[in-house]
Amino acid sequence: MEPSLAAPLIDRRAVVTLFSRLRTANGQSNPLPFYADLRSMGSVVPAPWGGHLVNSFELCNQVLRDRAWQVPDSAWRLRQGEKTRWNSISSREMGRTLPALNPPHHTRVRQSIGNLFDRNSLEATKDSVERTTDRLFDRLAEELRENGEADFSALVSEELPSLTICEWLGLPIEDYALMRDLTHHQVFAQELLPSPSQLALSDTATLRLQEYFIDLVAKRRAEPGDDPISTWLRTWDGIESDPAKADEAVYLLALLVVLAAPETTSTLISTMVWLLLEHPLQLEWLRAHPQHLPDAVEEVLRYDSPNHIISRVAGEDTTLGGVRVSKDQMVHLMIGAANHDPAQHSEPDVFNIRRRATHLSFSGGIHYCLGAPLARLEATTVLSTLLRRMPSLRISSPPVWAPRVGFRRIASLGVVAG
Ligand code: HEM
Repeated sequence: MEPSLAAPLIDRRAVVTLFSRLRTANGQSNPLPFYADLRSMGSVVPAPWGGHLVNSFELCNQVLRDRAWQVPDSAWRLRQGEKTRWNSISSREMGRTLPALNPPHHTRVRQSIGNLFDRNSLEATKDSVERTTDRLFDRLAEELRENGEADFSALVSEELPSLTICEWLGLPIEDYALMRDLTHHQVFAQELLPSPSQLALSDTATLRLQEYFIDLVAKRRAEPGDDPISTWLRTWDGIESDPAKADEAVYLLALLVVLAAPETTSTLISTMVWLLLEHPLQLEWLRAHPQHLPDAVEEVLRYDSPNHIISRVAGEDTTLGGVRVSKDQMVHLMIGAANHDPAQHSEPDVFNIRRRATHLSFSGGIHYCLGAPLARLEATTVLSTLLRRMPSLRISSPPVWAPRVGFRRIASLGVVAG
């Protein structure tokens, strides 16, 4: 086979070094210089561990919208070999959920849940998001009064998305903390290059979540209500003649929602608060122009997306940006870098809430994030509550990022009252 056109031009060690540095505390606190280096190597760069890194906005966008590119589904995972990370318990289970399905299976499952957060259902959730946010700000105020300093991430960002999705799914309140802990561990399987110990944590969490949600679906079948799980059961009973298959489809939907919602939205909220407190003039402008709150959230999503990497595999031998990619090879869409592509954005490394931010942070094409309206609602609610209740809050210690490159996570964000 003809070699990749880009391969001879790239120093493999330079890419390895770049990713090692990206994983350090320094790299996580500001990945932008690393992304500039990556983009300077080309739009499509061979990944030292196999496959390619795609760095330009245009090519990432093209791949997401082109059906010739597929998600790594169960069949693809099996073809990688039993001993690979793709066949760990956690990865295999993720391989059965919506983001890892290709058409026609994907079309069928996606249609079964429809538009999760359309105008009406979002309106119903709005009250609960506002109430929970206010309660969390009460606790934040109390902590600031008592100790002078508080961790915004632990008290607000990590709590709101988790409480919201658990309440939306109708889970018992005493299980919320367990869900939050399990999802933190499970997400390791979705990292770029998880270590064996991270995969082991993820496997244990996956098995626990599996047990929990299979049991919950059985309870809802016995005693249906008007919660999403009962609604999905009614829908799937109309699709599948075998109730066991309907139960399994619903278990996989519940598992996915509880994994997709909290981790990403928590990072969005912490990143937003950090960026705006670091740019007080923009925060002040926003206070005077609250109609631009949604624009500020979009700029946060562009500037530092909760998820920096989306993966696809080639359905057939093909060419991308002049580089040959063979069937089944993986491409990592470096959306964190693409969102800063100077060919797409002017002054991409400047945080500016007054720009019309375009980004790939919720993906694109058929897998476009179904929870985007909920994530946006939670972020704008936190921002308006911050402006109303604590306009002079300040950062007291720099954020601490978890050492991950795919799914970003701010583990702590110290704040003080201004
Ligand atoms: C800021 C927060 C969020 C971000 C950045 C985010 C990001 C993403 C991305 C990038 C994808 C597509 C992955 C791919 O193309 O391979 C996705 C898919 C998905 N997200 Fe989100 N998400 C967020 C919040 C949520 C929430 C709150 C929910 C649910 C309540 C949710 C549910 C889903 C679902 C169900 C999919 C699968 C869609 C499909 O494959 O058809 N997400 N999300």
